Amino acid sequence: MHEERAAHARFLDRYYGASRGFYDVSRRYYLLGRDEVLVSLANERWSALVDVGCGTGRNLEALRRLRPDAAYGGVDASTAMLDVARARCPWAALHHGFAEDAPLDGLVGPPDRVLFSYSLSMIQDPRGAIAHAARSVAPDGEVVVVDFGPLSGVPAVARGAFAAWLRSFHVTPVAPAALEAWGGRVRSSPRGYWLTARFSRAAS
Ligand SMILES: C[S@@+](CC[C@H](N)C(=O)[O-])C[C@H]1O[C@@H](n2cnc3c(N)ncnc32)[C@H](O)[C@@H]1O
Repeated sequence: MHEERAAHARFLDRYYGASRGFYDVSRRYYLLGRDEVLVSLANERWSALVDVGCGTGRNLEALRRLRPDAAYGGVDASTAMLDVARARCPWAALHHGFAEDAPLDGLVGPPDRVLFSYSLSMIQDPRGAIAHAARSVAPDGEVVVVDFGPLSGVPAVARGAFAAWLRSFHVTPVAPAALEAWGGRVRSSPRGYWLTARFSRAAS
């Protein structure tokens, strides 16, 4: 696992090292649903949030504009991405590490919300990462996922081609049925382009 993780981090740094300069602009067109989730988060009661796979810090910056009163943390396995996030979000507690075991409750205290925005589909052990986050949130806290959906409303050929294209970037969307089996409350957008899932704090 150690070598697998190191290889994953090397891939991320190569991939994002080359694309981080235009990352936010390019992803606008296909990482759908992120702004809807940020607006809905901004209307909820919480005071500390950790963004897992925070990338360039785009979501943290947007959330802080909506909720300047809150405390923010972020975790990312890519140094290339974290460099950008650190410059952009000097007010956030940012940590280089892996979603499966990063100290999510040690950045801004136990967070009321842990966000996975298009990161779960890149994480090697998504089930372990969700379980770890659900153990780390504060009492009454929630884990919130936004990611690629099942594309149920598009022809199977297009769905297959899109999945193959995503795999070439080490992206494997998690099926809604799996998220439900792990305890998530899942909602898909029309045509299934994107989905959200919410998990309550784990019992232990
Ligand atoms: C598609 S980007 C999404 C970035 C950001 N959340 C957004 O919405 O724009 C996925 C991010 O997850 C990070 N990532 C991938 N695997 C990870 C892991 N196991 N632990 C932590 N971060 C990871 C990548 O480095 C990258 O920054």
